Amino acid sequence: MAKLSVDLLGMTFRNPILPAAGPNVGNGRQLRLTAEGGAGGLLAKTISVRAAEVPRPDMVRFGQTGMLNTELWTELSPEEWLDREYDIGLAAAREHNIPFLASIGYTPDELRAIGPKVEAKGVDAIEFSIHYLDPARLIDTARALRESVKCPIIAKLTPHKGDLGELAAMIEPYVDAFACINSYGPTLRIDIDRMEPTLGSPLGYGWLSGTPIRPLALRSVFEVARRVKKPVIGVGGIANPKDVIAHFMAGASAVQVCTAILLRGQNYYAKLARGVSDWLDAHGYDDINQVRGRYLERLGLKA
Ligand SMILES: Cc1cc2nc3c(=O)[nH]c(=O)nc-3n(C[C@H](O)[C@H](O)[C@H](O)COP(=O)(O)O)c2cc1C
Repeated sequence: MAKLSVDLLGMTFRNPILPAAGPNVGNGRQLRLTAEGGAGGLLAKTISVRAAEVPRPDMVRFGQTGMLNTELWTELSPEEWLDREYDIGLAAAREHNIPFLASIGYTPDELRAIGPKVEAKGVDAIEFSIHYLDPARLIDTARALRESVKCPIIAKLTPHKGDLGELAAMIEPYVDAFACINSYGPTLRIDIDRMEPTLGSPLGYGWLSGTPIRPLALRSVFEVARRVKKPVIGVGGIANPKDVIAHFMAGASAVQVCTAILLRGQNYYAKLARGVSDWLDAHGYDDINQVRGRYLERLGLKA
């Protein structure tokens, strides 16, 4: 059986398949189920300085394997996370001997306020979500968190039409790794019989995730990995073991999954991991790390 564990930012993940921030990791109980379901590490839903007010309906299916959502960050208060939910998630991570990552957002001031409190809980790393495409704000945001905490920090990038590699390179000095991508949008879906939006946001806008964004995610990982030296975590549309392999070939060092887990349940992590191992065995690899960056190498873009 091929080796699946990956070492990243001083942490060892038992396999490279982690949860992406979303309702699948929306509280301590979900985090425990994620650990029990076989994820390589834990990452909790994004928290901010206050609870989000999420319009309903906040999630609809898009085809069989896609989703549109209007979720913001967590609807729990930071106190609820700091007093209870992180402890439950951290205990599950320690029992399973896997790392625990927090996700926080969004402005420089908010990151400065919440980052040190989250770090004090004993999390192994902090991911922060970047929506700004304006370079000055991008750098301010990354620098604010870098100056507030000592643990490794991961910038989660939002897809857009420009070269994501350029944006990543701009903040590379301030961060330890990148995660890409967040869900894509905004997008719109209308219920034509009622002539109303299917989602509860003011204009009916929502964010697209799942297999419809799979090729966009892969391009983004490729663009960032070819440009920066720091590790990249691939996110977006991963729904089967071959998607994990493709992300590794494009330069990812680990992956995160949200929509496929929402649709298939927490035990799907173990199934994905087994499928990756089977693929590696069948193709003569004995370690997932041997696949990383192979597509970049083939194009002569990275040694
Ligand atoms: C319902 C829902 C809620 C989400 N909430 C968050 C969040 O709080 N923070 C965040 O960084 N990303 C959030 N995301 C984005 C996911 O973490 C992920 O980047 C995106 O969905 C692409 O991965 P996927 O195709 O595997 O779902 C959310 C996605 C969905 C579907």
